[in-house]
Amino acid sequence: GLKYFGAATDSPGQRERAGYEDAYPRYDSILRNTREFGQITPTNGQKWTFVEPEPGVFNFTEGEIVSSIAAETGQYLRCHALVWHSQLAPWVETTDWTPKTLTKAIKRHVNKVASHWRGRCYAWDVVNEALNEDGTYRESVFYKVLGEDYIKIAFREAAKADPHAKLYYNDYNLESPSAKSEGAIRIVKMLQKDGIKVDGIGMQAHLVAHRAPSLDSQIAVIKSYAKTGVEVALTELDVRIELPVNETNLAWQKEAYKNSVGACAQVKACVGITIWDFYDPFSWVPYVFDGEGAALLWFDDFSRHPAYYGALDAL
Ligand code: XIL
Repeated sequence: GLKYFGAATDSPGQRERAGYEDAYPRYDSILRNTREFGQITPTNGQKWTFVEPEPGVFNFTEGEIVSSIAAETGQYLRCHALVWHSQLAPWVETTDWTPKTLTKAIKRHVNKVASHWRGRCYAWDVVNEALNEDGTYRESVFYKVLGEDYIKIAFREAAKADPHAKLYYNDYNLESPSAKSEGAIRIVKMLQKDGIKVDGIGMQAHLVAHRAPSLDSQIAVIKSYAKTGVEVALTELDVRIELPVNETNLAWQKEAYKNSVGACAQVKACVGITIWDFYDPFSWVPYVFDGEGAALLWFDDFSRHPAYYGALDAL
């Protein structure tokens, strides 16, 4: 059953849009309001490029800015992400690895980072985005050197470093049954077969308003994950709109939020929903998807999207 509805948030230095400093007090009071959000995730601060910018040199400052908020408010903390091909420190991609040296580097990274936050994370996204759309493995530096063993290495080490955290495999386009969703199930089963702790599948859920997955297909895919025995969460929900915003696309968006939140609320294995920030000016969407935006639940002027009430209705 649902334990939380939460939001990702960034340390001020990493927030997407400059010039919004005046909005911070209002933003922070919504973020810390436990009637709005029972959980938070650091958008960027725990990623490899921030926490281990040079080999063996660790810096937890950015991640701590967000994780310490959870400690103050009592909100659940989701931790994100230990092993991912993106936002990697440049040295990881330029080093000439052997399987042995890369194994050591992954172990050190996972051990140091997960130990630092030990006991504070409800969950860790241990491996992020290992899959291609057809369910095969992405050719990341980790996969090229180690094959699928890198996933086992990361989960094993995370379990040792923080036995309390739920350990998740997290990816996008996992919101309806597909070759990719089968791939996520395959990863969970591979870990289970080796007796390695794995507790959850994270559906990022970066969706598009006019072609968001139906309620039924989201329910079906969540149930397919739950069959393996793990829990499920929507970890990075946002529903982008092709700009400009109008009544029609806001209605599509409301329906999409309602269906995603509703699917999670209706399947027992789904424990929570996290939106990927909550205030449109701090969304990553306009920077990555040309001509799209307004993907979250609060507009620039802090009025609420119709989708806010769609999500609320579905809870
Ligand atoms: C995004 C952040 O929101 C941006 O600020 C950053 O520049 C790039 O990464 N999948 C993930 C997240 O797992 O970590 C990504 O977050 C969005 C896609």
